[in-house]
Amino acid sequence: MPGLNCLEMRNISIAFGGFAALSSVDFRIEGHSVHALTGANGAGKSTLMAILSGAHSHYSGEILLDGEPVSIRTPRDARQLGIHLVQQEVDVALVPQLSVAENILLDRLAEPGHRYRWGEIRRQAQTLLAQLDVALDVNRLVERCTLAEKQQILLARALSHHCRFLILDEPTAPLDQHESERLFAVVRRLKASGIGVVFISHRIHELNAICDQLTVLRDGRLIETGPMAALSGEQIVEKMLGHQLTDIFPARREQQAQPLLLAVEGLHDEQLLQDISLRLHKGEILGIAGLAGAGKTELCKALFGASKSRVSRGELHGQRWQPRSPHDSVSRRMALVPEERRKEGIFIDESVAMNLSVSADDSFSRWSLFGHRQAWRWAEQIIQQLQVRTTGPSQTLRRLSGGNQQKVAIGKWLRNNADVLIFDEPTKGVDIKAKTELFTLIDNLAREGKGIIYASGEFSELVGLCDRICVLWDGRIVAELAACDVTEETLLLYSTGGTPA
Ligand SMILES: Nc1ncnc2c1ncn2[C@@H]1O[C@H](COP(=O)(O)OP(=O)(O)OP(=O)(O)O)[C@@H](O)[C@H]1O
Ligand SMILES: [Mg+2]
Repeated sequence: MPGLNCLEMRNISIAFGGFAALSSVDFRIEGHSVHALTGANGAGKSTLMAILSGAHSHYSGEILLDGEPVSIRTPRDARQLGIHLVQQEVDVALVPQLSVAENILLDRLAEPGHRYRWGEIRRQAQTLLAQLDVALDVNRLVERCTLAEKQQILLARALSHHCRFLILDEPTAPLDQHESERLFAVVRRLKASGIGVVFISHRIHELNAICDQLTVLRDGRLIETGPMAALSGEQIVEKMLGHQLTDIFPARREQQAQPLLLAVEGLHDEQLLQDISLRLHKGEILGIAGLAGAGKTELCKALFGASKSRVSRGELHGQRWQPRSPHDSVSRRMALVPEERRKEGIFIDESVAMNLSVSADDSFSRWSLFGHRQAWRWAEQIIQQLQVRTTGPSQTLRRLSGGNQQKVAIGKWLRNNADVLIFDEPTKGVDIKAKTELFTLIDNLAREGKGIIYASGEFSELVGLCDRICVLWDGRIVAELAACDVTEETLLLYSTGGTPA
């Protein structure tokens, strides 16, 4: 029957200080299905879903549940109707010093007059996790959980309420391939139990794997809605961008024998890394492949001197070298674009220009602004180059969409005149157009003779962009391969500890 078991948004518009973030958008989620919501960074996905979860009250338009008009103006309204949102930044919703069980039932515990019985809480938490079919020790402190586990806690929390519609905002951005597949299994279970799921993602192959319906937004407008299977990957990208995107990766550079920039032998750190050896030449892009926990971030930090490590032999620019400190690395013309960019050195309540003008070495030691005019010009250049969607250099970062904050964070690290650049998972949460821009930028850096280390769990990107790829598994390099004759499957095999038959 039309209207039954469905949540419908009609003619939704919202503006922030004169900027129309959404204009007359219609959106409809059915129970028992998974609905993909996609679009470029800043298209309005999070804003549309924030409205459904009661985070904004100043929108216009109508919302209907099972065909009846409902009012959603506060988070409480949304919860009472059974609508729950799991945000991309899972940490903001969790209390790290409490156990898994307490975090799952946090809303219950906060209810006035609640009587705290540990045994009861544990049992309820275990039942909820069992519904998701995940094994997680409910006694463990949340601060000791991985990102994937933290997501499971929030999913279990949503189920602890009456939950009919569940919104997942870029849930797979921080997950590796295996963790994502586990999440898909959970999503399928939720769907089978009758829940309508909204799944926001920039990875089109993922949408294909689990979604039934698809909606594409562009510049705050509805561009397409219908069955997932009706459009090919290319057609979806075209709808997102308004034009075709044929070449995602730059053309391969000619590889000639180039002088060595950096050589490391026998690198160990105090926890995970063992006997790492690698070499990076001028004009080369060296990929570091690995799943979550393999040691990619640890390796990037160790090379940059941001964590303690020992190297039996090291050479940088033809001189003997040991990683010492970020400050020392910067003075030796190294740069690191760290993975946890949002935590490590962006200032959410400052302007885009201010964020871009605090340079990499300054943010490790002290603040210093370079000339105002220079800062402004640099900001305009990065906004252009990385296609940051903003009203201009003076806009505060908080007002930018997630992916656009990410681009500013990347831009910030590109200022110092480094010739060994380390990128740790730079494309998380970034839309396909911006990825392409970023690849071009990295490729140009290599053409200028810089050496790039590119760590990622996105194997297709490594194959498309890099010259050589080292695969990390359990803190060790288990394979070194020329990118031109390697496949994603091979990288996955090595990165799970296997070897080709
Ligand atoms: N509170 C706010 N104040 C001002 N502008 C805002 C606010 N919230 C969102 N916007 C603007 O609305 C637009 C849509 O943002 P939204 O976060 O919905 O994008 P998104 O599609 O989720 O993008 P991403 O893929 O980068 O997460 C952006 O241009 C953003 O700058
Ligand atoms: Mg968003």
